[in-house]
Amino acid sequence: MGFCKDFIWGTASASYQIEGAAYEDGKGRSVWDDFCLQPGKIKDGCNGDVTCDHYHHYKEDVQYIKKLGVKAYRFSVSWPRVIPNGIGKVNQKGIDFYNALIDELLANGIEPYITLFHWDYPSTLMEKGGWSNQDSPKWFEYYAEVVARAFGDRVKNFITFNEPQAFVGAGLAEELHAPGYALPSSITVKIAHNVLISHGLAVKVLRREVPGCKIGYAPCSDAAIPYTDSPEDIEAAKERFFDMGKEEKTWATSCSWWSDPVILGKYPENILKRIGKYLPEDYEKDMEIICQPIDYYCQNIYKGFLYKKGENGPEQVPFPAGFPHTAIGWSNVPETLYWGPKFLYERYNLPIIITENGVSCRDVVSLDGKVHDSARIDYLHRYLLQLKKANDEGVDVRGYMVWTLMDNFEWQEGFTERFGLLYVNYQTLERIPKDSYYWYKEVVETNGELL
Ligand code: BGC
Repeated sequence: MGFCKDFIWGTASASYQIEGAAYEDGKGRSVWDDFCLQPGKIKDGCNGDVTCDHYHHYKEDVQYIKKLGVKAYRFSVSWPRVIPNGIGKVNQKGIDFYNALIDELLANGIEPYITLFHWDYPSTLMEKGGWSNQDSPKWFEYYAEVVARAFGDRVKNFITFNEPQAFVGAGLAEELHAPGYALPSSITVKIAHNVLISHGLAVKVLRREVPGCKIGYAPCSDAAIPYTDSPEDIEAAKERFFDMGKEEKTWATSCSWWSDPVILGKYPENILKRIGKYLPEDYEKDMEIICQPIDYYCQNIYKGFLYKKGENGPEQVPFPAGFPHTAIGWSNVPETLYWGPKFLYERYNLPIIITENGVSCRDVVSLDGKVHDSARIDYLHRYLLQLKKANDEGVDVRGYMVWTLMDNFEWQEGFTERFGLLYVNYQTLERIPKDSYYWYKEVVETNGELL
């Protein structure tokens, strides 16, 4: 069967990870600017001040996207670049940058997909309590309105949030991401509720300001993969996929807590039983705002774990010794892109776009000046075959975006992990297309027939 004829092949990036120009042209501080200043937070002590300097190299980067042949480029807008204090005055120079990028993309036949929020939260708002402030959904609504009005004449595809699991879980509870807090679930569950309201308000604003636009929402998940093909193991994996772990704090990494309210209009019963006590008393009244119709269910998905039916519910099966893992230490299980989309489609029944999938490898520039990243090609090939299988079996997969266009600032890992199709030399800012860039180009050209 193969992928549909207008399948959205793309690649993705995020503002803080690639833009640089952290203190230029009136941009306000973000929590990531602040977090990187704290000693010991980033593995190599680096920050996103310059990173790929995409802010000044965007024209060159658009040419790389064009030559890659993809139809779609997903990037995020930096909230404090366009509204330095998060609310109030708009920074025209920030708007100008994204206008120039969008125009360049369109002039080169590439469809822009804007992610409103990929984690670089305005510091000024964090100082007011951030997402725990009851006004925070209104702040996000205003930001969404500014973006919609500035770019909505040309941009028709929007994604509200990237991985709320990460900025709430890793950022506000686990101390791993900015702002680096260790808040208890009694607070973060309320915060998450505000994030969900913010999503709903943003969808309403986008629909009002950009009639006909397409809207997605991009949480992430680790796939739960049945250990065998027996119906019992498949059921066990599905049950685990939409549940949380044993420890209370694992609710934040769950898939269903973040997606059921948005798509089904209610929190999942199994998790509600455990953490519902932390929700605001009258939380149900907000479900109407949270549950706005969206066009795509987007998903960032990289790794999976094996589950079988156990005595007391789903039981994780440990990987055998020597099981493949990627450079960053994530399990390399291609079936992730089969079972993940399959379970998600069954539950949410919305067209799926894989908005991120990719791999970090120990890439080096070889003596011939090229980057021979055969491990990345192998990973992408295997994962895409599984996605194709899901698609062939009826899962409505509409698109796939490789994470990521170019090596970049990998959050708490600094520059120690490389996920890009383009190798970036951070001293010279030279970009070198890796072997995987040329391989993916052929996949795109053949609409996946090459696989
Ligand atoms: C994030 C990206 C990140 C990638 C690899 C995703 O969780 O959205 O920003 O670089 O994973 O870690």
